[in-house]
Amino acid sequence: MKNGLEDVVAAETQLSDVDGEAGRLVIRGVSLDHLAEYASYEDVAALLLDGLIEGNLEKENLRRRLGQARTEVFAHIRAIDDDMLGLPPVDIMRALTARLPDGDDLEAALGLLAAPAVFLPAILRLKNGDEPVAPSPSLSQSADILAMLGGGRPSKEKVKALDTYLVTISDHGLNASTFASRVIASTKAGLTSSVLGAIGALKGPLHGGAPGPVLDMLDAIGSQDNAKAWLNQALDRGERLMGFGHRVYRVRDPRADALRYALRPLIDADQVDRERIKLANAVELAALAILKERKPDRPLDVNVEFYTALLLDALGFPRDAFTGVFAIGRTIGWIAHAREQALRGRLIRPRSLYVGPLPQAA
Ligand code: COA
Repeated sequence: MKNGLEDVVAAETQLSDVDGEAGRLVIRGVSLDHLAEYASYEDVAALLLDGLIEGNLEKENLRRRLGQARTEVFAHIRAIDDDMLGLPPVDIMRALTARLPDGDDLEAALGLLAAPAVFLPAILRLKNGDEPVAPSPSLSQSADILAMLGGGRPSKEKVKALDTYLVTISDHGLNASTFASRVIASTKAGLTSSVLGAIGALKGPLHGGAPGPVLDMLDAIGSQDNAKAWLNQALDRGERLMGFGHRVYRVRDPRADALRYALRPLIDADQVDRERIKLANAVELAALAILKERKPDRPLDVNVEFYTALLLDALGFPRDAFTGVFAIGRTIGWIAHAREQALRGRLIRPRSLYVGPLPQAA
């Protein structure tokens, strides 16, 4: 038995390759560095769905249909009542997503891609006592998310930064939520069922739930001088440092650097809290040194969540919404994997090793 299925190969995929030794991520033959710099969210959606779903995936058509889908799913916002509004944002997203029809075609996929992009900004506005802002179908997905969140036209630096984020986290091998999506798809359930299961798997702090706690950690540390002492005390208490370590990467997570670069235009345009960035840089350096000293046999480097926290904070998302933004970006990966599994895979049904008691002899 392999605890946590570590190193077990459970699927063949043409979607993405995570090379944990080299610190390299390839999405459908293109390196993450290239995609993060040049591709839009819509480009990557078309790239991931190519050959897995029927329909016109040409960029302009996809952008137009995604805009229409955002307008259609906006009607579901009405289902949010006061009880639901008391839940964490990602739980409300999950509840609303459950209302979407199951299906395997492009229309079902577009509805699922549009849904989190529309739901999250509306949920955040309602929680603040503000009216939700309706989608603008002519905008790109990233521009519209920020427009629905802030109620005005977002800066081009912010749109580019969100696009880079959504592209960077679009797919990442057989992570926990993607595996959940594939397991469900292997039973021939529809895409909504796969995405719902994946959202459930994403919300835990060991997967998509870490970036909020990264900011909590930075706040608790407070100043650069306090970094070393605070980090050592946290480790002495047996805690893990959020934003560090990875099951597959034994070197720096390449997505961390893609997001670090994505922050630069925001820093240059003075659209970010520079003091927090300086503190984060100091905490990163201190944490890397301490982890190296304490765990010499286990290479522990920075992961995607560390810079996710800084980027999403700069874009105006509250920390309890970070997992929801992750879901907006990762839904395309879940859908592509679900389609690949349904088309080319087999029912996923591993075995367990029984270690419980045996029946008593009579
Ligand atoms: N801080 C301190 N120690 C850490 C650590 C961290 N962030 N991540 C791993 N370790 C240590 C563990 O304590 C363990 O040490 P031990 O063998 O002395 O007990 C060792 O490294 C191996 O940990 P393990 O739990 O087997 O690794 P994993 O592959 O199951 O865990 C993560 C991967 C991501 C869950 C883990 O690194 C973690 O909890 N990170 C913090 C949360 C986070 O940033 N999540 C986002 C991931 S993208």
